Amino acid sequence: QLPQKIAFQSTSPSNIALVKYWGKADIQIPKNTSISFTLSNCYTSTLLKLEAKTKTEEKTTIEVELDGVSTPSFHPKIEKFLKLIETYCPYVKHYHFAIQTKNTFPHSSGIASSASGMSALAMCIMQLEKKIDPAISDEFMLKKASFLARLGSGSASRSIEGKLMLWGKHEQLNQSSDLYAVALNKDIHPIFQDYQDSILLVDKGQKKVSSSLGHSLMNGHPFAEKRFEQAQENCSELLEILKSGNIEAFMTLVESEALTLHAMMMSSLPYFMLMTPNTLAVLNAIWEFRKTTKIPVCFTLDAGANVHLLYPKKHQQDVHNLIDESLKMYCENQQVIHDEVGNGAEII
Ligand code: PMV
Repeated sequence: QLPQKIAFQSTSPSNIALVKYWGKADIQIPKNTSISFTLSNCYTSTLLKLEAKTKTEEKTTIEVELDGVSTPSFHPKIEKFLKLIETYCPYVKHYHFAIQTKNTFPHSSGIASSASGMSALAMCIMQLEKKIDPAISDEFMLKKASFLARLGSGSASRSIEGKLMLWGKHEQLNQSSDLYAVALNKDIHPIFQDYQDSILLVDKGQKKVSSSLGHSLMNGHPFAEKRFEQAQENCSELLEILKSGNIEAFMTLVESEALTLHAMMMSSLPYFMLMTPNTLAVLNAIWEFRKTTKIPVCFTLDAGANVHLLYPKKHQQDVHNLIDESLKMYCENQQVIHDEVGNGAEII
């Protein structure tokens, strides 16, 4: 017996990749393994209201509100998602969907809301599944939520849990899978357990190139195979670094990954560039700061111009001062979001 009218709520954070996912086969099967920090302050809260269809109703109605404003432009994405998950969650086709969602970070800030948004929705759907089948375990719920989130947006699979997530089959990790992400909680050095991420909003504009298009340009990319191989090796190396707490090695690997992601974009056909002069100014300032102060702060980049500064918590004050004195000026409206490693989605 399906509930007639019911609502579920959850929150889910964004995440930032350390080893990047760039290139996929159909339905978000990644071409390489990726590893990310789950964030804490940048998250989406979603309220999902479900109403059972009557016997004669065929069509699903979808309503989406973002920050209290009706946003029909999201309907096609949600419709596609619901169609895709129907095989795994047959109960969804019996409901009309009303989704109310809000982000803690500004809309069009260049911070992808697809990871937090799709993972929050996946958690709501798994709450419905638990309602229908109370026997499912919490572990199964998280795994399937990550699986469903992946179908919405690949990197969303890495937002369900924390603090470090690995997605994509990797020979070194038996439980790894292309279908969902797994948490790397064992043997993570304490230095990485409260790592900081200050996000410099260099360009808050909408993405110039969608990540779907970007992924597809890895098909037939002249360096693709070598890149996928390199990502697997970087994951192995990063797993060791995360255990040992070797920050020097961490910074080298993470910065190289960020620049490689952008190098792939610049060398695809058509080629494109998402970094701006201000991005480069920030990167140079960080290298200079690190050389003169020996404070271990490094950067990573997403598919955009914004810069994530990653550093151990004990250097928070120094890095905040650096940002206020010399980096804020490169950001749109001087905007910076201070975040840190977090624990993943929550049921409200
Ligand atoms: O999840 P998607 O399809 O938006 O891809 C995200 C890809 C990057 O953010 C550039 C890298 C990553 O691993 O998150």
